[in-house]
Amino acid sequence: QTIYLKDYTPPAYLVDTVDLDFSIESGGTVVTSTLAMRRNPLVSARPLVLDGEELETLDVTVDGAKVPFLASASSLTVDHLPDAFTLRTVVRIKPDGNTRLSGMYRSKDGYFTQCEAQGFRRITWFLDRPDVMSTYTVTLHADKATYPILLANGNPVANGEEANGRHWAKWADPFRKPAYLFALVAGKLDGLFDTFTTASGRTVQLAIYVEPGKLDQCPHAMAALQKSMLWDEERFGLECDLDHYMIVAVGDFNMGAMENKGLNIFNTKYVLARADVATDVDFENIDRVVAHEYFHNWTGNRVTCRDWFQLSLKEGLTVFRDQEFGADLHNRQTARIREVRGLRAAQFPEDAGPMAHPIRPASFVEINNFYTATVYEKGAEVIRMIQTLIGRDAFRAGMDEYFRRHDGQAVTCEDFVAAMAAASGFDFTQFMRWYNQPGTPRVAVDGHFDEETKTFTLTCTQANPRASDESPYLIPLRVALFAADGNLLPGSERLLQLTATTQSFVFENIAVEPVPSLLRDFSAPVYLDFDYTPEQLTVLLAHESDPFNAWEAGQRLATQLILDAAAAIAAGQEPVWPASFVDAARKLLQTQAGVGNFGGAAFVAEALTLPGETTLAELMSVVDPDALHAARNGLRRHLAEQLEGEFSGLYAGLTVNEPYAPSSEQAGRRALRNLCLAYLLELDTLSVRQLALQQFKTADNMTDQFAALAALANVNAADCPQREQALADFYAKWKNEALVVDKWLQAQSTSRRPDTLATVKALTAHPAFDIGNPNKIYALIRAFGANLVRFNAADGSGYAFIADQIIVLHDRNPQVASRLARCFDRWTKFDAGRQAHARRALERVRDHAGLSRDVLEVVTRALGAA
Ligand code: ARG
Ligand code: ZN
Repeated sequence: QTIYLKDYTPPAYLVDTVDLDFSIESGGTVVTSTLAMRRNPLVSARPLVLDGEELETLDVTVDGAKVPFLASASSLTVDHLPDAFTLRTVVRIKPDGNTRLSGMYRSKDGYFTQCEAQGFRRITWFLDRPDVMSTYTVTLHADKATYPILLANGNPVANGEEANGRHWAKWADPFRKPAYLFALVAGKLDGLFDTFTTASGRTVQLAIYVEPGKLDQCPHAMAALQKSMLWDEERFGLECDLDHYMIVAVGDFNMGAMENKGLNIFNTKYVLARADVATDVDFENIDRVVAHEYFHNWTGNRVTCRDWFQLSLKEGLTVFRDQEFGADLHNRQTARIREVRGLRAAQFPEDAGPMAHPIRPASFVEINNFYTATVYEKGAEVIRMIQTLIGRDAFRAGMDEYFRRHDGQAVTCEDFVAAMAAASGFDFTQFMRWYNQPGTPRVAVDGHFDEETKTFTLTCTQANPRASDESPYLIPLRVALFAADGNLLPGSERLLQLTATTQSFVFENIAVEPVPSLLRDFSAPVYLDFDYTPEQLTVLLAHESDPFNAWEAGQRLATQLILDAAAAIAAGQEPVWPASFVDAARKLLQTQAGVGNFGGAAFVAEALTLPGETTLAELMSVVDPDALHAARNGLRRHLAEQLEGEFSGLYAGLTVNEPYAPSSEQAGRRALRNLCLAYLLELDTLSVRQLALQQFKTADNMTDQFAALAALANVNAADCPQREQALADFYAKWKNEALVVDKWLQAQSTSRRPDTLATVKALTAHPAFDIGNPNKIYALIRAFGANLVRFNAADGSGYAFIADQIIVLHDRNPQVASRLARCFDRWTKFDAGRQAHARRALERVRDHAGLSRDVLEVVTRALGAA
């Protein structure tokens, strides 16, 4: 059941046109498919084998005549076919009973589809693979009062009334596309309408459809769409090719959003926003996801993937594009910092664990398990490295070349890189290792200053123990040198290309021993080891001209302190906190303009956010989650004690008096102010509790209200009436706003409190929770699984709970269950006692009868890691 990239063969048949007719009725939906097919002249003759899943086959004809066919649960085989023919199948599907949310399914206000990667086969018999591209027409029939809106890809071409209060609509998509980009929607929805005029003067009709009553939460997404369209024209010369671009929001959705041609379907989380219900981060995420799906129209839809192993071809590239859009729209400095923070929290652990895979996997059991941080976020880093190596202009020329060569095709990662090579003349042969190997490379750097020759030599040694062999990567390493007084040494900024296992780079005319700034702007997704002294890091924190590395210096300082403290706590000693760290933090707070000529409140907030426990755990050989938790919070408390005056002063001074806007400037001030509040709450005095409750009650926006709630939810004291009041009031106020209820659940599941598991268990029976809704599961259960100290409780209770939830869900929604199973990725990093509990939990899941393929792949790999 493992599928290998090396086994790829082209399709034996092609589908030129697809005509679909959906008759939506209460007992099920009848799908009539008429396919104009022909043999692929490049492949020798063989029977036609179509994919299908949970289809009730009512009729099969070829050129109008009944034919013999062989149907199994997952395939329909027809033999003795002419070279070209019309295949007509009629099937009944049951969208109301589709709990997997793959294929066509019911959600509150109607019917929706999700076809990537292999959901189309749950709708009709088809060659469900991305290299089969066809032109689609779709007709929908449904009850008019219940389903007034009928949508499919492309342009509306006709509609009318039918008997019994029914109506129909016909849509035609002029662009050839693979089946995974098919979509339909039938429901009762409100629409927000606008237009965009492209650079060449075409008018695109824009629409956002949402559940009735939510129109006032759509303008931000609409503006994001218009900004994305303009940005892609300006940065990449890419214009919208459509007459109609529609976004439909649905509350039940496995993932974030889907780029179906002309008919994107989105998780409501990435559409709906209003100041009182969405945070600054939500607003920014909406910008990014709307842009991401729009950018797919070129990088994904016009040029698509030959097979699913090439997923990063479209996802890595499109994430890179949405990152760049976000950086241009908001704050480039903090955007980069957050990207790296996210990569270290999710992708580095993935790359070190049992599910590690190259950005282009060589094999998989279930493709849905490979929509990962590696394919998406590391994939984006690989694209970014290409741009770093050849420069922005050559990268743009490479994109132009890619579309010149491959518009309308289904291609591979090699095809993309070949276009970049052709446009730049750069040799990417060695670089391809980034596509083919799992694991995070480590680069160890040693600096040697020679007084005699006035040279400074950087010796770089790379290694990746997870790779299949020892050949070196091509690693772009951006560096600069600083004098001990903080001045950047003129001419020392260089982009080094590491190509050998060990390699030295010499800087001439260096008078005194410099402080090297390494991996500036995070120029490659690696671990970078250098034996910095705290004094050197303090120099970089204060004087670095690269904002990422200024932040990084602070993270390195904090990391060392926390890891040392964790070791001390584990050995029964008191941790020590050097005054220099507090001084550096004080300086950041005082200047508040950050450091160097960049910064501002947003930067300071990032700089004073300590590295997360998950990221730190990767740096420990055996993770002691309790000691790590105590150490990190000990440092937070120490900072709060030492800097109480600064935190209070800033808290009072940073108030935003203008009307709320999700601008990066306002968001930065709110982030720093709320960070001050959270630090102050580490002291847990009555006055700070009251301050937090006051903010909770008076905030006119969700950012401030939720920041106060989350900080209070984290208060450890057994008795905290302010906490109880805030949680109760919040639920009472927002219980009808589904996305806000998710926040309420998450504030509790991510709490550091020792009773968190008991709270989470109780919440699974609360009316706020719904096992059928992925967002609820992610907010309550998966977020608990990411709560390092509580999930990894020494008694195994956290493991047992998540295992129970996987078993409840595996059949109902395998994709979501499989994501929960990923909570166990790092189980072998803990002590023997915890490992024994985790193993028992994993084995219990593995041995569950009829376990879904999705979960089985994850659990088998996890157990195989021991
Ligand atoms: N292509 C979508 C996006 O990244 C994600 C779809 C994921 N679907 C899935 N079944 N895993 O924009
Ligand atoms: Zn995507």
